[in-house]
Amino acid sequence: MHKVYEFETLDSTNTYLKENWDKLQDEDVVTALHQTSGRGRLGRTWNDSSSSLLFSLLLKDSLDPEKIGLIPLLTGVSVLLAFQDHGIPAKIKWPNDVLVHDRKACGILVEAVTEEKVKAVVDGVGINLNNSSFDPSIKDKAISLSQVLGKPLDRKEMLASFLLHFDSLYQDFQKENNSFLPILKENSYLDGKEATLDYYGENKHVRVLSVLDDGRLLVDDSGKKLALSAGEVSLHSVYTE
Ligand code: BTN
Repeated sequence: MHKVYEFETLDSTNTYLKENWDKLQDEDVVTALHQTSGRGRLGRTWNDSSSSLLFSLLLKDSLDPEKIGLIPLLTGVSVLLAFQDHGIPAKIKWPNDVLVHDRKACGILVEAVTEEKVKAVVDGVGINLNNSSFDPSIKDKAISLSQVLGKPLDRKEMLASFLLHFDSLYQDFQKENNSFLPILKENSYLDGKEATLDYYGENKHVRVLSVLDDGRLLVDDSGKKLALSAGEVSLHSVYTE
């Protein structure tokens, strides 16, 4: 069972859990209607909107540091299944975005709390739920679920749907059964697309082949195959063929 702590405003639900992980229980969830310093990957900001579903989930027990890199993928699949429950077709843009009709509907930021060893993992999710408009900087790349369905969605119901899928996939994951991976492979947005990525400071133009059985992304780099881990690369841009 998840205990859900609901806040009107926080700086960031991820920051809150990073600062309070030792006082909270494994699998506790924090939500906020507003974030004053919402954070995205690679030091980006996550724009505030009371129409979004913003939450972070705390994972403290039985954490295997080697497997933390898979948590964004498992989370993305849980979001995808929650969207499907609501009749919304989605794809996962490896490693941490969920897209609907080629636009971003969800971003995921997983952070570890490390004190000599990993003490906790904070799994942050931002879903564009009922947004009717977006900041000009992202308006051509973002979409909300209400824009897709033409009606508003219930925040608590979407969270419950996500948690149901997450719990089942996470339980398998802890038993060394990565049942989320075949779902990710089947619903991978990047397959067959050309992308530019930052690979250890070097810009590479590659063709994405597929997601591998271990969750890495297989790309073709001028005839050479490279298997990329999520932490290793940042995708700059994607070109649809
Ligand atoms: C990304 O797309 O770069 C990841 C965005 C993650 C945003 C969510 S919103 C809830 C949680 N709190 C944060 O500050 N960030 C995550």
